[in-house]
Amino acid sequence: MDLPPRGELFDFHGVSMTHYFTDNWENVQNFQARPDDILIATYPKAGTTWVSYILDLLYFGQTALERQTSIPVYERVPFLELTPPDSASGTDLVNNLPTSPRLIKTHLPVQLVPKSFWEQNCRMVYVARNAKDNMVSFFHFDSMNMMEPEPGDWNNFFQRFLDGKMVFGSWYDHVNGWWKKKQTYSKLHYMFYEDLIEDTGREIDKLCCFLGLSPSAEEKKQILACVQFDNMKNNNMANYSTFPSMDFKISPFMRKGKVGDWKKHFTVAQNEEFDEDYKKKMKDPTLQFRTEI
Ligand code: PPS
Repeated sequence: MDLPPRGELFDFHGVSMTHYFTDNWENVQNFQARPDDILIATYPKAGTTWVSYILDLLYFGQTALERQTSIPVYERVPFLELTPPDSASGTDLVNNLPTSPRLIKTHLPVQLVPKSFWEQNCRMVYVARNAKDNMVSFFHFDSMNMMEPEPGDWNNFFQRFLDGKMVFGSWYDHVNGWWKKKQTYSKLHYMFYEDLIEDTGREIDKLCCFLGLSPSAEEKKQILACVQFDNMKNNNMANYSTFPSMDFKISPFMRKGKVGDWKKHFTVAQNEEFDEDYKKKMKDPTLQFRTEI
């Protein structure tokens, strides 16, 4: 199959985007959410697939067994604003979901989320990942996913990340915008990738508490095993190996799954520049990230 042309960045309501996420904007903005929809929101590469898979197993792992072996995670949990070439848009996929609740993925910054999600008082799960690892993961992803803008070399990418010239805009604005929303919107559960790595079971318990779910000990054990990095990496329904625009020869989608991989990419000078810049942008003392655990 022909690979799609790489998207070019342009300014969209103050956020860098490519046309793959704005072509269907009318339908995205007018999307009709249902009260029991669950929105999984993240900055790209923060742990979306991991949390999507956990939620899918929590809701449907026991009942719809064929789902696990035949439907890739990106169809079970459609990406709302994605309009891929030659296949169904995110809004169409969501509107055709047979399940309830519907699990919906988005990378939109909080101010661009379609208003019906707020009107319907939907539950939302936001996953955030420390900026350094998030940047490294994004770099490898942009290298291997032909729908993404050309990443350029690492030094150039590093600068662009600091400048917020990435698809879905600035990491700093994204994590802060959603964090601020949490103060006024009670149905938002804000999670951290690093916490999930540290203790996946504990984080699943917190998620269940938020969602009002009480899986049995046996069910929880099964879910924990399924969502382990190596198991997801080897699971064709979870590892994106069937997604057309990705070149796994360049990098796998499930790449390292670690906290602290940034140390292998950042030079000492880049780390100093990053930390200096970070202090200026991340002023809210209540939002803290861990770059190692
Ligand atoms: S995307 O394209 O935005 O939806 O990507 P996303 O799923 O948010 O992020 C991909 C990164 O998450 C890692 N990942 C995991 N880490 C640990 N355990 C599990 N189970 C897991 N599943 C996904 C994945 O490896 C990517 O991170 P990197 O650092 O690139 O390995």
